[in-house]
Amino acid sequence: MKEKKPSVMFVCLGNICRSPAAEAILQKMEPEWFVASSGIGSWHIGHLPDSRMRQAALSRGFPLTKKAQQFLLDHFQEFDLILAADHEVLHHLQSHAKTPGEKAKVHLITAFSELYRNQEIPDPFYRGDEAFHEVLDMLEEACQGISKQLRKSSCQ
Ligand code: 4NP
Repeated sequence: MKEKKPSVMFVCLGNICRSPAAEAILQKMEPEWFVASSGIGSWHIGHLPDSRMRQAALSRGFPLTKKAQQFLLDHFQEFDLILAADHEVLHHLQSHAKTPGEKAKVHLITAFSELYRNQEIPDPFYRGDEAFHEVLDMLEEACQGISKQLRKSSCQ
């Protein structure tokens, strides 16, 4: 029997800095998987990612081309894992999950990271360029852990 490909939804506040970068990193590592991102807020729907994040991510080989979308309750059914950038986002998602099964899909992005396990990905929006690279360092390492974990659990 053919295994279903893993699916991962990354969620941050605005979907213009942290989660689109996480999406691009994991999608490049795992081109066959269903990877997406969204924000809990509606302010940036339809906008491209923040130009500072686009530039920092592109310099590492991750072009960010998708436009921001808001997290929808249907996403709880569509994805195996729903990964939050920080505790504010984690609590928001947990409080909107309707069943224990939906709640069990929600974790921090760093839940499977060796170096940053269960740390928040800091919001770079009001900080300088170095903050965007700090976020990318964390996301690149965290995505390796996500890839390892899902490969193990789906026996790919
Ligand atoms: P993100 O960063 O959640 O990583 O996309 C932010 C983007 C925008 C805002 C806050 C955080 N904002 O307040 O507009």
